[in-house]
Amino acid sequence: MASNICADLRQGLTTSSADETRDIASKLATLVPNDTVLALHGDLGVGKTTFVQGLAQGLGITEPVTSPTFNLYTLHEGPAGRLLHLDAYRMESAAELDGLMLEDFLVTPWIAAIEWPERITDWLPKNTWHLHLGITAEENHTIKLQ
Ligand SMILES: Nc1ncnc2c1ncn2[C@@H]1O[C@H](COP(=O)(O)OP(=O)(O)OP(=O)(O)O)[C@@H](O)[C@H]1O
Ligand SMILES: [Mg+2]
Repeated sequence: MASNICADLRQGLTTSSADETRDIASKLATLVPNDTVLALHGDLGVGKTTFVQGLAQGLGITEPVTSPTFNLYTLHEGPAGRLLHLDAYRMESAAELDGLMLEDFLVTPWIAAIEWPERITDWLPKNTWHLHLGITAEENHTIKLQ
């Protein structure tokens, strides 16, 4: 699995623990092209923030990654790159990001992880990677790269 996580993600992966989800995200963080936006689709509690915790691990970020629902976004700087973690749950449009100067933080190499990306589709670049997270009837968590 480790060797070709992107191909596996395109097929769709099932995880049975939060650590397994973090592990996949951590590997992905080292493989995505520099300066990629990752749109994390999926309902409440499917594991989007858990996935971002794994991305942070992969970038060598040691400070905790928590749900930024109340402060919209969090900026992390790690030895292998910067991580913008944005939770758009409470947003109505991408216009609300105007004036925050998020771009100033995005000094290469970076990853931007967006929860609830459908709220701000106008902000997402064309080369955004779309990941769909879900939970099966058997309570397994699933992750699929579009
Ligand atoms: N296989 C798994 N993958 C991811 N999370 C899991 C898994 N199994 C259990 N969990 C648990 O499910 C919860 C997922 O919560 P998380 O905050 O990551 O979801 P979320 O998609 O960010 O939700 P929200 O939309 O509210 O922000 C965590 O408590 C995590 O520990
Ligand atoms: Mg979350």
